[in-house]
Amino acid sequence: MNNREKHIIITGASKGFGRDLAMHLAEHGTVLHLVARSDMSDLVLELEARGARVSTWQQDLTQTEKLHDLITHIAADIPADETGFLGLVNNAGMLEPMGPAGKYDFETYRKNLEINFVAPLLLTHAFLELFQETGIVKRVIMISSGASGKPYHGWSHYCSTKAGVDMFVRTVGIEQEQQRNPVEIMAFNPGRISTDMQESIRSTSEDDFPMVHDFISAWKEGKVGDSAEVAGRLARVLLAEFYPAGEVISHRDI
Ligand SMILES: NC(=O)c1ccc[n+]([C@@H]2O[C@H](COP(=O)([O-])OP(=O)(O)OC[C@H]3O[C@@H](n4cnc5c(N)ncnc54)[C@H](OP(=O)(O)O)[C@@H]3O)[C@@H](O)[C@H]2O)c1
Repeated sequence: MNNREKHIIITGASKGFGRDLAMHLAEHGTVLHLVARSDMSDLVLELEARGARVSTWQQDLTQTEKLHDLITHIAADIPADETGFLGLVNNAGMLEPMGPAGKYDFETYRKNLEINFVAPLLLTHAFLELFQETGIVKRVIMISSGASGKPYHGWSHYCSTKAGVDMFVRTVGIEQEQQRNPVEIMAFNPGRISTDMQESIRSTSEDDFPMVHDFISAWKEGKVGDSAEVAGRLARVLLAEFYPAGEVISHRDI
């Protein structure tokens, strides 16, 4: 990657796992492009103190018609001749609504599908369209979940969107093998980690999520992973020489 800058786009960087990942990647020579709905001014100061350059994009990713413009605007800030590495981490996600399919309002289910499935695929599509022929290392991470391979009562939309993301990775993985300048893409399941998402799971009613007690017990027994620690391991994988392109991997693998 020589002395050229690393440009890394992270969605859902305002808190939780995305924020922890940004903290681990922040250093001199790295430019972070962070996307979320919230204001990230405080985070920017922390990342700049570590030597990174940062740009923020306040965007609701459920407005999927705006995502092509979003990536195009970010790309305009990435000078081809000064860039040695390009990354896209599709991390933003939501579990809500938790409860059996058909129970809650149409609009909340639509948002779940847009944020967990439509947005990461469209952002990746735009990334491929813009950078396919750029002859540098280019990598995408889709943040998946153990729920992609296991049905949880009450999580029909979350489980199926994450399963769809995994299949997208496997499919684009084989397509990219044929490319002259491949984009390497993988999916990563971080396991249960200490973020607001786990907190909202623990406060769900048993009617909507019958396994809630299992999640409460795991938390009490210290079996929920440390988000910052898992993010540190993933940051190393993103920048390592070997990258598991086309694969769906878990926190246990790295
Ligand atoms: N926590 C776990 O145990 C766990 C386990 C397996 C997989 N995961 C996955 O890990 C990823 C990160 O989860 P987390 O636990 O860090 O969740 P979190 O603490 O709830 O953070 C979610 C992030 O996504 C952003 N986001 C949510 N809706 C958005 C929208 N409509 N537009 C733009 N950004 C949006 C939020 O930012 P704003 O609110 O500022 O928009 C926030 O930065 C998710 O993909 C999740 O499915 C988590």
